Amino acid sequence: MIPQSTIDRIIDAANIVDVVSDYVTLRRAGASYKGLCPFHDDKTPSFSVSPARGVCKCFSCGKGGNSVHFIMEMEQMSYAEALKHLAKKYGIPVEEEEMTDEQRQKMNERESMFAVNEWAAKYFSQTMMNNQDGRAIGLAYFRSRGFRDDIITKFRLGFCLDSPTAMSNEAKAKGYNEKYLIDTGLCVKRDNGTIYDRFRGRAMFPWIAVNGKVVAFGGRVLDARTKGVSQKYVNSPDSLIYHKANELYGIFQAKKQIAKEDMVYMVEGYTDVLAMHQCGIENVVANSGTALNEAQIHLLHRFTNNITLLYDGDEAGIHAATRSTDMLLAEGMNVKILLLPDGDDPDSFSRKHNAQEFKEYVAAHQTDFILFKTNLLLKDAQRDPIKRAQLTEDIVRSIAVIPDEIIRSTYVHECAEILNMDEAILMRGANKNRATILDNLKKEAQRERERQARLLEQSAPTAANNTPASTLDTPPQPTDIPDDIPPMEALPPLDSTPAVTTPIATKQGLAEQRFHGLERMILTLVTRYGEQLIDGQDADGTPTQTPLATFVQGDLDYDGIQLRSPLYAKMLALASQHASSPDFVASKFLMNNQDEDISREAADLISDRYQLSSGNQMTQTEEELKVTYLSRLLLDYKNAIIEEELRQCNADLTRPEVKNDLNRLMDTMRRIKELCEIQRQLAKLLGDRVVVK
Ligand code: CTP
Ligand code: MN
Repeated sequence: MIPQSTIDRIIDAANIVDVVSDYVTLRRAGASYKGLCPFHDDKTPSFSVSPARGVCKCFSCGKGGNSVHFIMEMEQMSYAEALKHLAKKYGIPVEEEEMTDEQRQKMNERESMFAVNEWAAKYFSQTMMNNQDGRAIGLAYFRSRGFRDDIITKFRLGFCLDSPTAMSNEAKAKGYNEKYLIDTGLCVKRDNGTIYDRFRGRAMFPWIAVNGKVVAFGGRVLDARTKGVSQKYVNSPDSLIYHKANELYGIFQAKKQIAKEDMVYMVEGYTDVLAMHQCGIENVVANSGTALNEAQIHLLHRFTNNITLLYDGDEAGIHAATRSTDMLLAEGMNVKILLLPDGDDPDSFSRKHNAQEFKEYVAAHQTDFILFKTNLLLKDAQRDPIKRAQLTEDIVRSIAVIPDEIIRSTYVHECAEILNMDEAILMRGANKNRATILDNLKKEAQRERERQARLLEQSAPTAANNTPASTLDTPPQPTDIPDDIPPMEALPPLDSTPAVTTPIATKQGLAEQRFHGLERMILTLVTRYGEQLIDGQDADGTPTQTPLATFVQGDLDYDGIQLRSPLYAKMLALASQHASSPDFVASKFLMNNQDEDISREAADLISDRYQLSSGNQMTQTEEELKVTYLSRLLLDYKNAIIEEELRQCNADLTRPEVKNDLNRLMDTMRRIKELCEIQRQLAKLLGDRVVVK
């Protein structure tokens, strides 16, 4: 466990804007910042960061929290791992209290793999710079390819000696566990149990993930030593920390420049990335010879909307260039393409030209992808009507995936011109395709909803209570509160209505959800304003001031009510206990809590759209409304409890063991009367305070 005081220091230091900016390009929007959500397929900036509150949240997928929760999600770390990650970033020493074996184990796996990779990258680089063979073979190789030392350093290039165990022996001597040498793929285990170095005799290219960690290596065989080596490049296998299909080589070195120039060049290989950096073009990544997948596009889309594909101008290059473009277009990215003269890749091209010429060529030759494709295919199909029809269909399909309607119609217009076709016909084709795409998306969403509903039904309690209220002798006074979340229209949007994300089929479920919604709103107020003083009177009429958290706890205690959610009950109890300490701030106290569940929930309660988008100062009227709002919430909550007990009593009346037992029947009836009376009083109080539309 990390001590509370250390957690406080870490969270104070880890400025949310600073932390998020390592992963997402943020733009200022009033008091907050906005960017594309890194957690889902975001096309418009839904990710909001509030420096004032220290939280971030995606209003589309709902993910977010404070800087620790953000890192947990981003790096797939545990609470403790994320705290330590931030502590390291901000130079805060962490002295652990005690950790469970399981916690230590989980953290160790990934951390150990990163540690051994980091060590290996340094080792390969030092070998290349200081070892005699390293210099003569490894360094000589990179130099012979024309790479400057600053590029070699920037990409942490290295060399693995041509010996089966030189690297692993050194690693073991330094205390690195053999298990992690194997797990990372640095070593391969033979059938007889011994291990050897996977990359022996190769020039080394470390893969540095977007967060700066070495997740894998690529090793290139040297030209002079091709004997007996079948593969030019060998890569680390996929592992707990590396999925080749999802990574982009060079992203770490490129991300700042991608954000700055708001565009990225996509090339094929390691050396293309290196060569372009050497030319001064730094916003470049490689997908390493495979087709782009969604995770990679998503990764890029965090930094920019604009992508230029750079390929050599031969058949294969053109084919590769047209492969993943529909996916990019569907993501809402602007896709351009740049073909290098036949046979050249960026590496070879940059060696024939100086940086200035390279840059000029790039600027002069990149063309819009759709127009490029149209022109290209048109060349092929000039005179062949069937080919022309296929081409039109192909283009129309590419246009149809573009989410933005205006951009779609612009393309239709331009393509119609190039193809010398009626714009309306092209438009009809695009619309038809678009309709199919949307239809499929809808079907997919529907299937997902059905799946969710099924899951829920399986987990929901089966004892649905369907007894109508009219079986009561004295029916309770009707209140106009529906079974779902009470309407809040008459009140300021202090909180968005609790999210009802999944349909709940049973009445029981609805009641549960209603309780949860009310408790959530109560805790929202406690978390945001728990330290603020509420004016009141004590028994003999002396004016008092109570912190909101204590007030709420006291009010519930008075009626003998305990919140149903154990987490909320715990949060409220803690806040109320600490509310009288001098520096108590409820949001900070709860969000920084050692208990991960409390911390997460608090972050969630703090960040909603209203609070993030408006300033953080409440106006006087909002202050007043808040107290009204709180009173109504508490009344609503109590009313919900009474209603539920009434419903329960009601149901009891029809059960044989109550119906046929005079005593129990009388007791139940009496209780119903009592409850109805309380309900009438509550309704009156509610009516006094609330202007119902
Ligand atoms: N690649 C790979 N594994 C292979 C072959 C290729 O991962 N067995 C990836 C590498 O990222 C490589 C890219 O695909 O950089 C392009 O392959 P290729 O064009 O063959 O290599 P070059 O980048 O041209 O490498 P070099 O210039 O060193 O020959
Ligand atoms: Mn090459």
